[in-house]
Amino acid sequence: MSAALDPATVDVYDPDQYVAGVPHEKFAFLRAHDPVFWQRLPHGGGCWFVTKHSDVIAASADPATFSAERGGVVIEDLAPERLVQMRGQLLAMDPPRHRDVRRKVLVGFTPGLVGRMEPFLRERARSVMRAAAAKGRVNFVYDMAAALPLQVICEIFGIPESDRAWVVEAGDRVIGRDDPELGVSEDSGESSVKIGTYGFQLANERTGKGGDDLISLLVNAPGDNAITAAEFANLFIQLIVAGNETTRTLLTGSLLALLDDRDAYRELEADPSLLPVAVEEMLRWTTPVHYFRRTATRDAELGGKKIREGEKVVLHYTSANFDETVFAEPLRFEIRRDPNPHLAFGWGEHFCLGAKLARMEARIFWEEFFASFAAAELTGAVRRMRSNLNNSHKEIPVRLVPR
Ligand code: HEM
Repeated sequence: MSAALDPATVDVYDPDQYVAGVPHEKFAFLRAHDPVFWQRLPHGGGCWFVTKHSDVIAASADPATFSAERGGVVIEDLAPERLVQMRGQLLAMDPPRHRDVRRKVLVGFTPGLVGRMEPFLRERARSVMRAAAAKGRVNFVYDMAAALPLQVICEIFGIPESDRAWVVEAGDRVIGRDDPELGVSEDSGESSVKIGTYGFQLANERTGKGGDDLISLLVNAPGDNAITAAEFANLFIQLIVAGNETTRTLLTGSLLALLDDRDAYRELEADPSLLPVAVEEMLRWTTPVHYFRRTATRDAELGGKKIREGEKVVLHYTSANFDETVFAEPLRFEIRRDPNPHLAFGWGEHFCLGAKLARMEARIFWEEFFASFAAAELTGAVRRMRSNLNNSHKEIPVRLVPR
């Protein structure tokens, strides 16, 4: 532990530092010395960073006190119109409205429907591997990891082939709002509106018609279960972003872990039946979404700290996933770690709807990767996204040797 760290000056907010990697040392320090930590923010005010596994669960278990809806789920204050838009996404709704909408959306994520995606996923994964094999040298982020999640989301929604490229590009802009290379905040807002408008049109076109894509299932659900085209527009933004960037990040983070730990690489290559357990460790290790924010609806206590009504509370999944009181040797990538109670998909009320799908995508991706390539190596510098929210990469140059 660095002697230089001091609770009075430590900063885990500054997005610049994430370009160099997750500041694990700072989070370990906070978990040990000040687990519910008041982080000052550059434009005034502050927020509580909740860094321990048990406290993240405690706050997630109490959505009436720690609201996702009141101030949204990111640390920064949003313009009023953005906040209204965000509240149309499941992620930023509180019960009872949240339960009602989530119940309707669940029809698209039943184990049966997700299971039906497997042959499609495998075929697409093989085509991603073939294209990469033909190139030999790839940017793993965009040439491989980005390709599969996008295909799956577009397939689930029945998005026409001709629109798929711009939809993912717009999704990137929504998420990359802190990274100058991907555009600034205003651009992010515009991209959300563009995706939302497109979702609205698709939902309108499909209302009252047959079809077994997720949009048709949602807008044509029987009784009072149907959601309107306007409701769908906001959900659509979330699903495009949630299902795309996160799964990509899981794949990029796992590749780097495997290239770093050649024993783990060889073990999985030799025995892909280890993958379901290993994918849980990949999720813990990578934690694609570092945090989601809540806002206190009343004065409360958390981890021994007094939280006042209106204050921001940051549920830090990454820190929780490296909590040494829950995970032995958390800084070790251990593909056989079991049990592995990571919080990469959150916990409780808002637990990720796409968890089953994401797990399946990762398993199939790696099965097909090992079947296709005899070797993989980095050929240059890895570049990370400037973000304290998404643990993503922009560039991972890799050379692949086909079998
Ligand atoms: C590795 C991939 C993924 C990760 C790490 C991830 C992570 C998360 C997290 C942390 C939450 C919030 C949990 C909370 O606030 O307690 C969440 C919610 C959500 N995720 Fe995911 N996600 C992934 C993939 C997906 C996919 C593939 C989809 C959809 C196709 C999806 C759809 C959603 C939705 C709709 C919610 C909101 C649920 C609610 O508020 O009730 N996610 N996800």
